[in-house]
Amino acid sequence: MSDDNTANSDGDEDGGLEARLAEGESYEPPQSFVEQANVNDPAIYDEFEENWPGCWERAADLVSWSQEYDTVLEADDAPFYRWFTGGELNASYNCLDRHVEDGRKNQAAIKWEGELGETRTYTYGDLLNEVEAFAAGLRDLGVEEDDVVTLYMPMIPELPIAMLACARLGAPHSVVFGGFSADALATRMNAADSEYLVTCDGYYRRGDALNHKEKADKGLRGVDHDVQTVVVDRLGDELQHFLGAMAHDYDELVAAHEGESVEPVARDAEDMLFLMYTSGTTGQPKGVKHTTGGYLSYAAWTSHAVLDIKPEDTYWCAADIGWITGHSYIVYGPLALGTTTVMYEGTPDYPEKDRLWELIEKNRVDIFYTAPTAIRAFMKWGKQYPEGHDLSSLRLLGTVGEPINPRAWQWYYDTIGGGECPVVDTWWQTETGGMMITTLPGIGEMKPGAAGPPLPGVDARIVDAAGNDVDPGNAGYLTVQKPWPGMLRTLYNNDDRFLNEYWREYSDEDADDWVYFPEDGAKVDEDGYITILGRVDDVINVSGHRLGTMEIESAIVGVEGVAEAAVVGGDHDVKGKAVYAYVILEDGQEPTDGMYDRIISGVEDGIGPIARPEDVIFTPELPKTRSGKIMRRLLEDIASGNELGNTSTLRNPEIVDEIAEQVKESN
Ligand code: WT7
Repeated sequence: MSDDNTANSDGDEDGGLEARLAEGESYEPPQSFVEQANVNDPAIYDEFEENWPGCWERAADLVSWSQEYDTVLEADDAPFYRWFTGGELNASYNCLDRHVEDGRKNQAAIKWEGELGETRTYTYGDLLNEVEAFAAGLRDLGVEEDDVVTLYMPMIPELPIAMLACARLGAPHSVVFGGFSADALATRMNAADSEYLVTCDGYYRRGDALNHKEKADKGLRGVDHDVQTVVVDRLGDELQHFLGAMAHDYDELVAAHEGESVEPVARDAEDMLFLMYTSGTTGQPKGVKHTTGGYLSYAAWTSHAVLDIKPEDTYWCAADIGWITGHSYIVYGPLALGTTTVMYEGTPDYPEKDRLWELIEKNRVDIFYTAPTAIRAFMKWGKQYPEGHDLSSLRLLGTVGEPINPRAWQWYYDTIGGGECPVVDTWWQTETGGMMITTLPGIGEMKPGAAGPPLPGVDARIVDAAGNDVDPGNAGYLTVQKPWPGMLRTLYNNDDRFLNEYWREYSDEDADDWVYFPEDGAKVDEDGYITILGRVDDVINVSGHRLGTMEIESAIVGVEGVAEAAVVGGDHDVKGKAVYAYVILEDGQEPTDGMYDRIISGVEDGIGPIARPEDVIFTPELPKTRSGKIMRRLLEDIASGNELGNTSTLRNPEIVDEIAEQVKESN
């Protein structure tokens, strides 16, 4: 495990800032922020500890229940925990109806910004109408409670509308990131036995109209059962598309049900709200199951306590709804709190590199949440872009997805926040449903590079391989030793894998003492601040997105002429980690440009452009231990340009120089 969480290694040009920051420079949140913060009493940490698990009523109180729950936590079948049992609620009611009933139907719920400059604003009243009409349409197509509906769309308003329509009917959604390939769509639809798909004709990316429908159709050919499809017309005349026999036009469906009201289905607290597939160690993605009561309460609570969201705010999380960040912090958390959430369709550098700052200025955004990879790109582009805009509306900044190196933290704090906005560095995962480790901006001192202490009520500890707490300053494994409401309940249709992946490593099963293992390395300082060091499994974090090495390897091995592949993450100054593929060809095959391109396309077709290798390195052999295990660590060091350690334990040490030489040449 490496002790270095800095993605930039470009020397000392900042006069040792990175080193100074790493040594523990810290910042207090401004008094003006503290005074207005939703949560600003430090006693909350003790209160939650003393009244655990009753403390979680604070979260449940932020949502409306049609039937009050009886028990906060039931642990008799741990680690299959059940939260807020006996309670009933509907997520769509919580995100829409109750705000309309509160007289806020004319407040903006979603402000959508298209890449080409067009905008759409949905008030809470508008959103409720369209969600009801679409829910009625889906019901007409046969969608019933508990049917899994797959949503495969880019950042257009119909995506959250479809999510809320599903939630209204009690039909769990499974959103597949729009950038994923046709194959990835098919795998997920088959795994979830999903008989409904909502998709669109296409969308704009850097000004070009992309054909999304073609990809969806190709994916559908790989689905092993019949599927009813609804297609949103995003591009109009720009892209003609044909609806097949089992396809329906979104606008027609909504028009046919305009004005209908659809009762929100009362869901048991433990009923599934959605499924989200994420990458793991094996080739098969994991279907993370989130529930209605615990997840929604947790998303709302963390949006309230950490993001400090208030109904009158304009809040912007610049993530994609296709990932958990967008589920929890573009859709469910902010809408449950009744705020205005901004949605942006495009890329941050289109038409110019100041697009995000222009949108913050124009919408008077109060709270902004993004990923370190984006911040590192902004730094690279230069501060003239943000400096050309009035960013004084900002009150709070946040980051998520990967470790933020202190220098990027400092740049964000100074250049975007003007030194006046707290920065929350939030550690969490698809599986945790919401934030777990971060400072509370109205309470905690911030330390650049360290996420912070666990949230009140969250019991995160750093342990060694034997499960004992490690001393401050030493690297160890991150664990969570108590359950929390937003936690995944299982992996869809696979309780065994759920137990194996997350609970077997550190639990004392005989003592019924269950410890969750997120598969991250971390260290803690004397003040209890946790610094995340990165994944310790075969998952690569590229630009804050999780990619499984096995999935990429199997896409590469699927290319004709390839015999074997090993994929690792190498350091990258913007992406954090980038994908490097070491490939052995079959006898008689040549490492030509054509082969290189076929491997790249193989990965793009198997997973999506996001998994595209930074480089493909052809080698006659992979470095292996005497027992035949591939030395991934060594391949990572070669890709990152690190000093190579002892290679004498290898069966084939001579191959290392050969590979390293090639990597140098191609750089
Ligand atoms: C993995 C989870 C949480 C939504 C986005 C990613 C890494 C996440 C941080 C952070 C350091 C972080 C971890 C984690 N990660 N946030 N603030 N500092 N690392 O969700 O795809 O489920 O990935 O992202 O390695 O395990 P995900």
